[in-house]
Amino acid sequence: MANLLLIVSGSVAAYKALELVRLARRAGHAVTPILTAGGARFVTKEALAGISGARVHDDLWAAEAEIGHIRLARWPDLVVVAPASADLLAKMAAGLADDLASTVLLATRAPVLVAPAMNPAMWAHPATVANMRTLAARGVHRVGPEDGAMAEPESGPGRLAEPATLFAAIQALLADGPLAGRHVVVTSGPTQEAIDPVRYIANRSSGRQGHAIAVALAALGARVTLVSGPVAVADPAGVAVVRVEGARDMLAAVQAALPADAAVFAAAVADFRPADVGAQKMKKVPGAPPPGLALVLNPDILATVAQHPAQRPGLVVGFAAETEDVVAQAQQKRLRKGCDWIVANDVSGDVMGGAENAVHLVTAAGVEDWPRLPKEEVARRLASRIAQALA
Ligand code: C5P
Repeated sequence: MANLLLIVSGSVAAYKALELVRLARRAGHAVTPILTAGGARFVTKEALAGISGARVHDDLWAAEAEIGHIRLARWPDLVVVAPASADLLAKMAAGLADDLASTVLLATRAPVLVAPAMNPAMWAHPATVANMRTLAARGVHRVGPEDGAMAEPESGPGRLAEPATLFAAIQALLADGPLAGRHVVVTSGPTQEAIDPVRYIANRSSGRQGHAIAVALAALGARVTLVSGPVAVADPAGVAVVRVEGARDMLAAVQAALPADAAVFAAAVADFRPADVGAQKMKKVPGAPPPGLALVLNPDILATVAQHPAQRPGLVVGFAAETEDVVAQAQQKRLRKGCDWIVANDVSGDVMGGAENAVHLVTAAGVEDWPRLPKEEVARRLASRIAQALA
């Protein structure tokens, strides 16, 4: 149970802060809100007070008379800025302190989590990009923004992360465990590559191994973004899940989730996709030969991230599913893709979709052969190795 200071700044997404307060209180946290002048345009002081059960602070000088901004800054275990407007992020980066929120942010020694929300053009502006880089270098944690429809007739990255995602990020930062405060991106499941509006190319991946890895990392305190293709397994609790279909969507979702301390690519990404996706269902024509299916190469998500010029995670882990020469192929794959580790498995048996996995961990230091284990146990071992590597 922690003390959360929640700063709500000006964005139409401020309504999501109310749901976040509800989730945080249900988990037993105490929430003290600070509402900026901009935030007060979108959510009322009364609503925040009602749902937080706490006094809402919105004025530097009134707060000074009551409790003092220094005491307010010392109270929390975590400061959460959600939504964080472009303006407030700029103030934080510059160290300005002209209202209660910015003054407390300058005075606090607690960790800070920001959840940006703004128009995609503002998010992409070099000023915001530079401000975010400054804040990241100072250790400010970030969740989102997400890509998607906005209030304006415009879409792109800038949307405030959903309350459940914000809450998962908070829990991860408060968690104990060797991966507390770390962000790990995990891919899982198959991809579906559309042929026409009703058909697709996919594979037998169940998502069990990737999802188990996400769970094991979260259990060690990591904030986990799980980017998953279509699977039947349930979304793990305490993990931010981004659902995708094709390889290109998966790459975009992974890139949007960066930066990360580590990334684990357990998805069985289709290597190829149909070159042209028909707008109409393909027809069989009596007497005519079946249509050919021309394929093009999909982007390699693992290789792209492992060779990312600016945002390569400190530890990049790939998988290699092979049916012969498993270890030799994995060693070559590790070098070719530029990742740090490869978890190699022989998928000639019932591994794909099955409950167990026998893997080899291929690193720069050599090869470890792990015994055949339930996928959950493989996940726990891998998570604990990741924690050691990041320590
Ligand atoms: O080249 P191959 O498919 O065998 O490599 C497997 C590894 O690369 C896995 O970690 C898989 O998640 C990743 N991969 C990827 N994007 C692709 C193909 C594979 O991230 N297009």
